[in-house]
Amino acid sequence: MFLRDKNLTDGAGGGLAKSKKKQKRENAWKPEGPKDPFAMVSLDSLPEKKQQEIQKALHLFSLGSSLPKTLQQAKKHTYRFWDTQPVPKLGDVITSHGPIEERGTCIQSEPYLLPQGFSWDTLDLSNTSVLRELCHLLNENYMEEDDNTIRSDFSPEYLLWTLQPPNWLLQWHLGVRVDSNKKLVGFIAAVPADVKIYEIKKQLVQVKFLCVHKKLRLKRMTPVLIRELTRRVNQQGLFQAVYAAGTVLPTPISSCRYQWHRPLNPRKLMEVNYPGLKQSMNLQRAIRLNHLPEVTKIKGLRPMTKEDSSGIHLLLEKNFNNFHLSPLLSPQEIEHWFLPKENVNDTYVVEADDGTLTDMVSFYTVCSRVLNHPIHTNLKAAFLFYAACNATGMDELMQDILIRAKSKGFDIFCALDVMDNLSFLEKLKFTLSDKSLHYYLYNWMCPPMSPNKVLTVLKNSSCIEALFVFQCMLKFSELGSSWNFF
Ligand SMILES: CC(C)(COP(=O)(O)OP(=O)(O)OC[C@H]1O[C@@H](n2cnc3c(N)ncnc32)[C@H](O)[C@@H]1OP(=O)(O)O)[C@@H](O)C(=O)NCCC(=O)NCCS
Repeated sequence: MFLRDKNLTDGAGGGLAKSKKKQKRENAWKPEGPKDPFAMVSLDSLPEKKQQEIQKALHLFSLGSSLPKTLQQAKKHTYRFWDTQPVPKLGDVITSHGPIEERGTCIQSEPYLLPQGFSWDTLDLSNTSVLRELCHLLNENYMEEDDNTIRSDFSPEYLLWTLQPPNWLLQWHLGVRVDSNKKLVGFIAAVPADVKIYEIKKQLVQVKFLCVHKKLRLKRMTPVLIRELTRRVNQQGLFQAVYAAGTVLPTPISSCRYQWHRPLNPRKLMEVNYPGLKQSMNLQRAIRLNHLPEVTKIKGLRPMTKEDSSGIHLLLEKNFNNFHLSPLLSPQEIEHWFLPKENVNDTYVVEADDGTLTDMVSFYTVCSRVLNHPIHTNLKAAFLFYAACNATGMDELMQDILIRAKSKGFDIFCALDVMDNLSFLEKLKFTLSDKSLHYYLYNWMCPPMSPNKVLTVLKNSSCIEALFVFQCMLKFSELGSSWNFF
């Protein structure tokens, strides 16, 4: 099912004129047109500083990806691949709920063909050298914008956390390698997720870490990765997926302005020229503005322990009905996603005098390398993952979380834009970046939803810390226990 794009690599054993097709496959991922600037010199042989200067210049002169960032741009774009897929067309008015295509009767048994010189590789992340290779691919290539000053620094522990939740499958960690040197040049992953879409419960997958090596961009590797992953997911009897992207594809079910920054270490952020930070502000003013108390206020606030899993499960479960798109988390998943792991994720709970859990906040860690800086070598960002407030005010809770995060050495706290939370974001001195994030469902139609009705698995992308994780923000307000996810 799903795979109707008659582009360069569709179908094992497809019936096109063989020699033409072979030629096309052979040339498919070779640089086209003018010479690839990276091919003109062996960049690796230059001193590091020179390499950085060249890359910075290439970045400055690059016109960037032509993919639409807004709906207006999207309406003028031709989606050669996505127009062949079971996703709603841009502009469609959708009032019904259900799959776009019924499940296919025959799912192709052979993998999709890759151009000559490339092969599929199912990545066994329990093998530490394979895991290191994936870290390397993502750390060097996962950023949408790279001016060679800050690079993501995904750790092996982080990747295992996000790619191996309960019931993960090996065959959904899909890599592409160059035959001649076995170099990993492409990756895409799926992890299982149970969700509720409006009133319908569905088993589907969440797509994560789509990444193509910089030197192989704009050569249509992405459609092949998506098709092969779809085939592997279909083989397990699943026909829907949820994913998010910074670009507009057909067709978002929801969109939000996605990144709010709250400096915890303004001096360092200014020194490294952190993207999105107000550079016009002088240092003293930034320090004064972002000052936080030394100690937390909320009684009963403490890090989550294993014993809290069922309390958190109860705290979260009863409120799922308030959302149009929400995950259905098992106790095992709660433990996996929330139990604190050093340099991966943190969760704090508020325990009432009678031992019940009234509130929780979870955030995950995204580390970056600072390149070519005389003093700083790394940055540590906290990303708000989940927050549930029952007894404590959201701003009070978040203020204490900022204090905890600062004391743990985080340089910045990031959160997504959710309508109900604007008040606390602004009150706590978060400032808004101009990026948007769009949410998508594959092979499922339903009416669009506002972001504060979405409580789902997703990713954040396109700033320095791009990753697919499920990130959410939950607020039980006095006004009706609404959940704001992201
Ligand atoms: C995203 C990325 C894999 C796209 O690679 P690319 O070389 O620019 O694109 P390709 O030539 O391989 O494929 C183009 C097709 O993929 C689609 N595409 C591009 N980015 C996509 C995304 N994030 N999700 C889904 N489809 C995407 C394009 O829309 C296009 O299809 P169309 O003809 O229907 O418009 C690559 O830019 C990358 O690795 N970026 C850094 C990591 C990242 O941002 N990952 C995605 C996070 S959402």
